[in-house]
Amino acid sequence: MNVLLTGGTGYIGSHAAVALVELGHQVVLYDNLTNSSEAVVEKLEQVADQRMPFVKGDVRDTKFLIDALGDYSIDAVIHLAGLKAVSDSIKKPVDYYANNVQGTISLLQAMRAQQLKTLVFSSSATVYGHPRYLPLDESHPTCATNPYGRSKLQIEEMLRDVAASDPQSRIVCLRYFNPVGAHEGGLIGEKPNGVPSNLMPFIAQVAAGKRTELSVFGGDYPTPDGTGVRDYIHVMDLAEGHAAALSFLSQNVGWHAINLGKGKGYSVLELVRVFEKASGHQVPYTLVARRAGDVAACYSNPEKAFKLLNWAAKRTVEEMCASTWRLQQSVEIK
Ligand code: WQD
Repeated sequence: MNVLLTGGTGYIGSHAAVALVELGHQVVLYDNLTNSSEAVVEKLEQVADQRMPFVKGDVRDTKFLIDALGDYSIDAVIHLAGLKAVSDSIKKPVDYYANNVQGTISLLQAMRAQQLKTLVFSSSATVYGHPRYLPLDESHPTCATNPYGRSKLQIEEMLRDVAASDPQSRIVCLRYFNPVGAHEGGLIGEKPNGVPSNLMPFIAQVAAGKRTELSVFGGDYPTPDGTGVRDYIHVMDLAEGHAAALSFLSQNVGWHAINLGKGKGYSVLELVRVFEKASGHQVPYTLVARRAGDVAACYSNPEKAFKLLNWAAKRTVEEMCASTWRLQQSVEIK
């Protein structure tokens, strides 16, 4: 299939592009480069060993998007473009609704103009809010607790209405847990600008000596070692989940919400220990106050993905840390 990836040069998008090309799809990268760089395109072509057309554009530019969908005879869209930092969304909610919700409305208008009905949407486990039970399955109530999560939930509901209005719609909302790691080639991966807000890139920078120590946000949670527990999933497993969702949609209509997680929780300190082993470097840390908005534990029940997509996350937390460390070293070398 000819697949357009909005947000295609981003962390998830670039890895999804590699997974799709490996399965024989033709991929077009569409990105406004607010949170990535065009340099990724060349790296992707190196990793995929084939050309990867790139279109610099904003999803809110509906006319431009209609033309891009037509120019490349697109069959399906994977929609990854959006702002994604919880703390940032609390400070700038309008930016989050403009980019995420308005951007998706523009994409849906463009798809309608081109009679396209197949869409994989990058959603998030944050739509579940504070877990009422664990592991989280797709029947868990959705109740986002911040503008970022609410924007994702609003988009899921919009897509549900689109599917209800047109029985030929083919829509999957993939609810990501905590994507980490990098493609084994060490060429692409998460390279946050400035101070990383997420745990894994911060640990990597401490191990590399770029930062003196890790602040562990909370040591008094009701978890085995008192620190936050999350469901870390290798970004290549997540990427392959997108390809599996596309093939599911080639045989199925309707609206489907599906968790993409490993189904196992690791605490902050457990991840630190695994990373120290994978990198051979110490990761000094200090326990500090909890971070506002964090939950104690959040991890998935991934059964539905296995049943519907015949997909499961297979890479280990050791591989997640080792691939992050390889990327960190390649960044250091430059
Ligand atoms: C993980 C754990 C922190 C940094 C976020 C988004 C979520 C999704 C994934 C998009 C928590 C602890 C972290 C640090 C720490 N993104 N931590 N020190 O918050 O689970 O989820 O990324 O979909 O929407 O909210 O990920 O990596 O920030 O935190 O102790 O310097 O690490 O308290 O327990 P989070 P995270």
